[in-house]
Amino acid sequence: MTANPRDGGARPQLSSEDSRLIQELVSEYCGLTHGIDSAFFLERRLAPRLEALGLSNFRDYYYYLRYDPGGPRELEDAVERLTTHETYLFREQYQLDAFTQELVPELAARFAARRRLTVWSAGCSTGEEVYTIAMLLREHERLRGWNVRVIGSDISRKVITKARRAVYGASSFRAITSYWQQKYFRDVEAGLEVREDLRAMCSFGQLNLLATDRYHAIGNCDVVFCRNVLMYLAAPARARIVDGFFDTLSRGGVLLLGHSESLLNVTTRFDLVHLTSDLAYRRPP
Ligand SMILES: C[S@@+](CC[C@H](N)C(=O)[O-])C[C@H]1O[C@@H](n2cnc3c(N)ncnc32)[C@H](O)[C@@H]1O
Repeated sequence: MTANPRDGGARPQLSSEDSRLIQELVSEYCGLTHGIDSAFFLERRLAPRLEALGLSNFRDYYYYLRYDPGGPRELEDAVERLTTHETYLFREQYQLDAFTQELVPELAARFAARRRLTVWSAGCSTGEEVYTIAMLLREHERLRGWNVRVIGSDISRKVITKARRAVYGASSFRAITSYWQQKYFRDVEAGLEVREDLRAMCSFGQLNLLATDRYHAIGNCDVVFCRNVLMYLAAPARARIVDGFFDTLSRGGVLLLGHSESLLNVTTRFDLVHLTSDLAYRRPP
């Protein structure tokens, strides 16, 4: 194998066998398959880690990931480099409209006796989805005086730290209107910060969605947003995660996926809800 680049040698190259081993390990850990099937992509994203750890080849990196005491932490770092964290405020507005105009009134009627609504944004990345949902629910006339909580989770600690910090730059604001921006954000040195009253409705935690036995930490919820996450995962991982959502949702609670995702060939446990411009999935009441 090639020498350590620190010693002036060539960059280590990823053989197809090492690529397969690393892909398997990553997929076992978090379900991720989409995108990481390219050895070129893996090599480019992970080469800096070999250098940082002083390893001269990818097989040693694989052994490190699998057997070294530092392996679990390194695996988190590797996954961080292999996943996309793309997100922004008010992403997929048509779906948010369907949620507020068609689903929330129904949920408000269903849970009127308890006047409490809990929403989970699963795979929330840096938190824009969480704060978007919080803004919409805070202003919803049918939820006045309700106890509304929005919980965000992601496998990446880095994005969760950023979500808690709640300071965003221009790219997060590409789809927001000035009404929401002026009302819920204030200028700070590093960008625009979410106002404290909105932050108080939201909480964040690191969670690997494959660890369905840890969903109890989220508690029972009434709505799950899991948008643009399942599309990157293998079929068995999707099925397992969606089963976990089903068990976590209240009866009559709803699951919303990203625009290119569906439960086709994943599960038949949910009822399909046809909205004017979208589809959602309901746990039968
Ligand atoms: C493209 S972002 C989607 C963010 C947001 N839901 C949206 O639609 O704008 C996908 C997120 O899913 C997270 N993710 C991927 N696999 C995961 C897993 N097994 N458990 C938890 N989060 C995961 C990634 O870390 C990433 O932040």
